[in-house]
Parts: sequence; C-alpha cells; structure tokens
Amino acid sequence: MKPTIIHLPETESTNTYAIAMLSKERPEEGCVIVTDHQTRGKGTDTNSWESAKGKNLTFSLILYPTLTADRQFILNKAISLGICDFLKAELSINDVTIKWPNDLYIGDKKVCGILIQNSLIGNHFNYMVVGIGLNVNQTIFTSDAPNPVSLKMISRKDYDLYELLNNLLQSIFEKYECVNSGRNRQLENEYHRSLYRITEFHDYIVKDVKIFARITGTNAFGQLELETEAGQLLTCDLKEVKFII
Ligand code: BTN
Repeated sequence: MKPTIIHLPETESTNTYAIAMLSKERPEEGCVIVTDHQTRGKGTDTNSWESAKGKNLTFSLILYPTLTADRQFILNKAISLGICDFLKAELSINDVTIKWPNDLYIGDKKVCGILIQNSLIGNHFNYMVVGIGLNVNQTIFTSDAPNPVSLKMISRKDYDLYELLNNLLQSIFEKYECVNSGRNRQLENEYHRSLYRITEFHDYIVKDVKIFARITGTNAFGQLELETEAGQLLTCDLKEVKFII
C-alpha cells in the first residue's frame, strides 16, 4: 500500500482532524494525517498525550476494514504487532512487548500508545481511525505519564521522523494484510507470544482488589484472561484491570 500522507505543521489532534475529514469526504484507505505538533493530543479515556513539538511521531491512519465489527479486536492485534515488529527491527532488540490491549513496551516502559476510534454502521465498519503516538527523539517527559521511554533514550541516536514513518507504515500494512487474507491464527499466536508479562506472576488490581496472578491470554472479544496463584480464572475488560508496574 502506498499511502497518501497529509502533513500538518500543527493541529489539535490528528484523530480529531481525521474524523472531521471523514464527515465530509472518504479519503482512500491508508491515508495518513501526521503533524509536528498536537495542541490537544488525546490518550485513552480522558488522558492527554504528551509529545514535544517536532520530536515524535503523532499520526492517524484511516482504514476501512471489511470484517464484521464483532471481530474488531483482531485489527487491534494486527496493528500492535506491526508496530512491535518495526520496533524490534529498528532497535535490533527483542524486548518489545504489547501491554494489553495495545501499548507498546520496551522492558517496563511505554514507547508507543494507540487510540483507535471506530465508526460503525450496524455490525460493519464505516471507518477506523488508528491514532499512533510513538516517542522518538524526546528525552524529557514532563506530564504524569508513569513510565515513558523513547527510541533515542534506548539507542542514543536521533531519528529522521519521516523515514521512520514510512518504515512503520509498511510494517503495519503487512500485518493489516494478514487480517484481509484471513491469516488470523498467525496473528493470534504472535499477539499471544508478544504480550507483556505473559505467563509471569505479577501484582494486578482487578475490580479494586489486589491480586497476584498471571496473564494466560485474551479471548475472542479481546478481554484479558488471568489466573491467580490459587487457580482462579478471571476475565477483564479494560477498565477492570490495572497493572502494577
Ligand atoms: C494512549 O493513551 O496510550 C493512546 C495515545 C494515542 C496518541 C496518538 S498521537 C496521534 C493520535 N492523535 C491523538 O490525539 N491521539 C493519538
């Protein structure tokens, strides 16, 4: 896929821009809105996304998935795996994992966040906006984001953002293609293997109760599955589980 790239020197949020665009037109699949500076970058829930001007990649990718919306978590998996592969290759390291559902981690630190905003018509996608914030050349973070890290903090190198964007997009499209060609089993297995803390026992807070448990995987709806030391099985939605890191 050769994406159309729309570059904005500054915008409130590339997701907001993409959604406003989609209310007026239907850009081609793979269209990317990228900016040097977001004035109101959005994170998950009500969080904001910190990104110093000109230092990082902040962009949104427009997709029109053809699968039914009840299977949408596979897209989440494909996109996070595309970023995971890209980071491993770029940094020549193996310790890149996906903190469920779709934060990219290097060791115990977050290098990339994804904010997906979907528009559905019944059980079908009208569109999907995949907002990606990758920390690249920023080395000082001032917000209360708990554990940020950037590529430069790992490699001590400065990166060309647009060269990086092209490579990252190719890696995402490769995994997106797996969804379109029905290679779901492969994606499921890779995602499972790439999960942060998979099979290790750690502390979590589940529904306000502190537990010591291990992640065993995710189910078809994308919920997280955990098992306590006593063998109790728990299934959690995003708001029900907090990782203690
Ligand atoms: C998270 O909280 O982990 C998700 C962060 C997503 C940030 C990206 S930056 C580009 C896009 N535009 C936004 O406003 N947010 C996403």
